[in-house]
Amino acid sequence: MQRMTTQAEWAARAKAVLPAGGFGNFEPEFFIKEGRGSRVWDEDGNEYIDYLIGSGPMLLGHSHPEVLEAVLEYLPKGQTFFANNALGVELAEEIVKAMPCGEQLRYVSSGGEADMYAMRLARAFTGRDKIVKFEGGYHGMSAEAQMSLAPTKQVNFPLAIPDSAGIPQTVADEMLIAPFNDPDYIRSLLAEYEGQVAAIIVEPLQRIIPPEAGFLQLLREEADKYGIVLIFDEVVTGFRFAYGGAQELYGVTPDLCTLGKVIGGGFPLAATVGRQDIMAHFDKAAVGADNWLMQLGTLSGNPIAAIAGLKSLEILRREGQYDHLRNLGNQVQGMIRVALDPTGVPYRIVGDPTLFEVVFTKAEPRTYRDVLGANADLSAAWNRTLRQNGIFKSAGKTYPSLSLTEADLEVTANAITEAGKAVGQLA
Ligand SMILES: Cc1ncc(COP(=O)(O)O)c(C=O)c1O
Repeated sequence: MQRMTTQAEWAARAKAVLPAGGFGNFEPEFFIKEGRGSRVWDEDGNEYIDYLIGSGPMLLGHSHPEVLEAVLEYLPKGQTFFANNALGVELAEEIVKAMPCGEQLRYVSSGGEADMYAMRLARAFTGRDKIVKFEGGYHGMSAEAQMSLAPTKQVNFPLAIPDSAGIPQTVADEMLIAPFNDPDYIRSLLAEYEGQVAAIIVEPLQRIIPPEAGFLQLLREEADKYGIVLIFDEVVTGFRFAYGGAQELYGVTPDLCTLGKVIGGGFPLAATVGRQDIMAHFDKAAVGADNWLMQLGTLSGNPIAAIAGLKSLEILRREGQYDHLRNLGNQVQGMIRVALDPTGVPYRIVGDPTLFEVVFTKAEPRTYRDVLGANADLSAAWNRTLRQNGIFKSAGKTYPSLSLTEADLEVTANAITEAGKAVGQLA
């Protein structure tokens, strides 16, 4: 009989074959065995309410019965073909209908790839090289995206600092880094580099920091003024903030957006989406060999991911889903206020009801540097106590899912009460 394997044993095995003992994503000592609805179980049998939800994709909860049924019905027909399939076309039709900027799309397998191609498209379209990125903005793992992603050193803008080894200086030279939520800086930067900037890439809500009123609108206006391609990275916010993403919620339409996470229903699928005249650079016949952007990927448009995505979007279109999600997020935020207000500890709940985090700081964070300056010890105590009381989440984000039940909210309230006490004792 096979012996039950504990997380510690798996961690030891992982260390031998995986650098840093894991997949690079999450705390390597955790091994999730199963997820159902709002809950996950680790290899030691501990049960958690899941506020990580696969880092965003499982908005409907794990193994949603209707998504599962659609996938299981399709599976005997095959797994991947490389050639076109009808499901991928149906999903593309739905996505371009949903996204205000959507005219055409190209599939890839990860959000980071979608961002990489969006930046490359902008360069092909404009014939310019420079990209404006915001400090602390996350756009995957391409060389460009690694610039000033999580710098611990504060340098003068617009100097780009690589957050990864192995990136040539020439990449940094083409990146211009700006502080989020600083209209004056953006205006002066774009004026200085007139005619050189291909794209502005931005998370409409940067990690957890909301855009201040008018900031995204300003990016739109400035991009139009200088002929720059405006890219919204909606890998997180797409189909989460609203059915039409952050662009619908905030009422600002970019030229291109990138999507991932929710659109694959938990399978690897992402897309670069946007204006037909820009997307035309993927079509050699339309733009000619010199302007063509070669792009292919073995699993792009995978039918299993497409059917899971189609079913997920169908469920999300049902009456009241987004109100319900916001209501769940607001309920959790209310619990946090009840737990933390009496402690007198300075804190802010930063983000959107559909995605947020508690930041232990006095002033409302507007930029990456503001979040960096928050009290990390209090955050650690907060997260540790939540985990000890059955909440599974990452250190930097709380993702409510539509699968949360009244019973889950009770467990959550208790955990938050305990976390509030822990923070109060430390302060
Ligand atoms: C805003 C944003 N962009 C891009 C990515 C990269 O997506 P992926 O991990 O699918 O490459 C992420 C991943 O969390 C993200 O949050």
